[in-house]
Amino acid sequence: MPGAIYAEGLVKTFGDVRALDGVDLDVPEGTVLGLLGPNGAGKTTAVRVLTTLLQPDSGRAVVAGIDVLKNPNEVRRSIGLSGQFAAVDEYLTGRENLQMVGQLYQMSGRDAKKRAAQLLERFNLADAADRTAKTYSGGMRRRLDLAAALVVSPPVMFMDEPTTGLDPRNRQQLWEVIEELVAGGTTLLLTTQYLEEADHLAHDICVIDHGRVIARGTSDQLKARTGGERVEVVVHERAQIEPARSVLAAYGKGEIAVAEHTRKLTVPVTGGAKLLAEVIRDLDAQGVEIDDIGLRRPTLDDVFISLTGHAAELGTNGENGSEQKEGER
Ligand SMILES: Nc1ncnc2c1ncn2[C@@H]1O[C@H](COP(=O)(O)OP(=O)(O)OP(=O)(O)O)[C@@H](O)[C@H]1O
Ligand SMILES: [Mg+2]
Repeated sequence: MPGAIYAEGLVKTFGDVRALDGVDLDVPEGTVLGLLGPNGAGKTTAVRVLTTLLQPDSGRAVVAGIDVLKNPNEVRRSIGLSGQFAAVDEYLTGRENLQMVGQLYQMSGRDAKKRAAQLLERFNLADAADRTAKTYSGGMRRRLDLAAALVVSPPVMFMDEPTTGLDPRNRQQLWEVIEELVAGGTTLLLTTQYLEEADHLAHDICVIDHGRVIARGTSDQLKARTGGERVEVVVHERAQIEPARSVLAAYGKGEIAVAEHTRKLTVPVTGGAKLLAEVIRDLDAQGVEIDDIGLRRPTLDDVFISLTGHAAELGTNGENGSEQKEGER
């Protein structure tokens, strides 16, 4: 049986850009799927297709058991969406925005009021509740938009980069809200640029690039694929980059990346803190002076580099789109 969110062979082109190039997804009920990818990968396009806002050229999608292409209106009644760009009404206050959503969903005036007050509190907007949204900062709008998506608790939720632009405290709070939602049985698809966020929230992760799924699995599986941990060393002066490189070569499980201007060397390793201690001793024995050294888990960038052979670049799709796909299919 397909999951609460199911897609098969989704294709969507804009001119000669293949924004979605055959995407399959299957999200079991009550779980969170993190959709990761760089700018222009197709994340928002996928969300728009699954939430009935955009017709795919081909493929099939079923959300909450309902066919997205055949019964879009019915799907809309079963989902919540928080978009990448806030959909709040600028000329209404925060409170009015939330009450309006409640009423659109046929809540009684009283219930809508109560729910709005709860959410304003929850998203740290109580003090600004009676100001028009046009006076809100970027982060406040973002939070209002998220609150609006949570006025009713639909069985399936979509959040497109929910925490982009939020400060750490508000991000943390949103994570808590999301965890509660999911504990209550909601199925969630969220897109993000942050592996850390997917790590924290998602049961499964799907990495997309140029409209294609290039990897899927749990966060641990993806990280294991990128070669476990990294040792990062900042040497005191440039002249010490080469001696440090020779030391790291003996411990590394992959290529050593060197950033000349910051004097930083990074290498994948396995062996954890014990190995780090050995590296420090060895660098010291070779007379390499260290400004900073540490062990870190792979980032989304590391996952990307290892999956696609290039960094998760900012910018447009398609510049180096075709050649790096080889070997992935
Ligand atoms: N309405 C449109 N018209 C033309 N091209 C579009 C349209 N919507 C998306 N695209 C193109 O489709 C590709 C995928 O875009 P999409 O917005 O899905 O990426 P994304 O993964 O959400 O990126 P970001 O991280 O920047 O939000 C991009 O190359 C984009 O320029
Ligand atoms: Mg997007």
